[in-house]
Amino acid sequence: MKAFASDNYAGIHPEILEAIQQANYSHDVAYGADQLTNQAGKLFESIFGSVKVLYAFNGTGANVVALKCCTLPFHSIICSDFAHIHVDECGAPVQSTGYTLVPLHTPNGKLTPEIIRPVLKARGNVHHNQPKVISISQSTELGTVYSLKELTALCEFAHANELYVHLDGARISNAVAALNTDFKSATVDCGIDIMSFGGTKNGLMIGEAVLIFNEELKKHADFYQKQSAQLFSKNRFIAAQFIALLRDDLWFRMASHANRMARLLATEISEIPEVRITHSVDANAVFAIIPKKAIEPLQRIYPFYIWDENTMEIRWMCSFDTTPEDVMDFVESLKRIIAPSHT
Ligand SMILES: Cc1ncc(COP(=O)(O)O)c(C=O)c1O
Repeated sequence: MKAFASDNYAGIHPEILEAIQQANYSHDVAYGADQLTNQAGKLFESIFGSVKVLYAFNGTGANVVALKCCTLPFHSIICSDFAHIHVDECGAPVQSTGYTLVPLHTPNGKLTPEIIRPVLKARGNVHHNQPKVISISQSTELGTVYSLKELTALCEFAHANELYVHLDGARISNAVAALNTDFKSATVDCGIDIMSFGGTKNGLMIGEAVLIFNEELKKHADFYQKQSAQLFSKNRFIAAQFIALLRDDLWFRMASHANRMARLLATEISEIPEVRITHSVDANAVFAIIPKKAIEPLQRIYPFYIWDENTMEIRWMCSFDTTPEDVMDFVESLKRIIAPSHT
């Protein structure tokens, strides 16, 4: 089955699988004191500069650990109303920390200083949770990508207001590939304090990383990771995947390919009069509204999700293994369903 439902539907890139196999040598020290975790840490440092690296089993776990590092129970976290931490994590970050989320409406998935400013009025009032973190996703849940200028402006605004910036980078590779830049320029150089660095959506079998740039946030991080049940005893098998991902630009090969497939899909469907693309296709997601009657028949051929049941907006995701043939077949299927006589 090929699907346009999620980059999570894709399998494991062969080079990643090979790296897991290679990591299966004899014995090594457990809980991240092994040689591969050490090597992966050095690789992250060579890319980002000074960074504390922790690992997590999934994106929710990485966000929980990262956000714990930034908050006390009376704090609040400002995020987009589409944020994964708000909509799709079953309240995990809130449940495990005690803070509240302040979701703000973001038409294109991106927070700006203008959107956030009114919320800061609660500052210093003992009756209100105290804003401490701005959490953004890059690429966003709507497939849009913050420019470096937007990121820098947001981080400057945050720091001027004593807020940390957390970046949910479940799809950071897609964003960095789309921006045609490097990881450091797109994160720590813009002022990001802490981030979740995605792996699973870009060809890994299991594992995400928490990258901490701000010294203040490093202090208790190991304890938060363990307490959040994210410390893997056999961490070498996660570390091995990140080494394979970051070495030889595998991350870029996979992410830029997925982005290209999304652009191809968007270009092809934009020629169908009955289809309306609803958000800028910056990374590997395409959002669209198609005739309602076409949704189910198309889902039967290529599974995908309805993003918004009210508007019947749908989301199609491309991944590292989506082929141009998959895209063209998908488009032909859509055309055939919408107007059988056109094909
Ligand atoms: C923006 C974003 N953050 C985090 C995640 C990680 O989620 P999971 O815990 O399912 O790995 C996802 C997955 O869909 C996501 O889209």
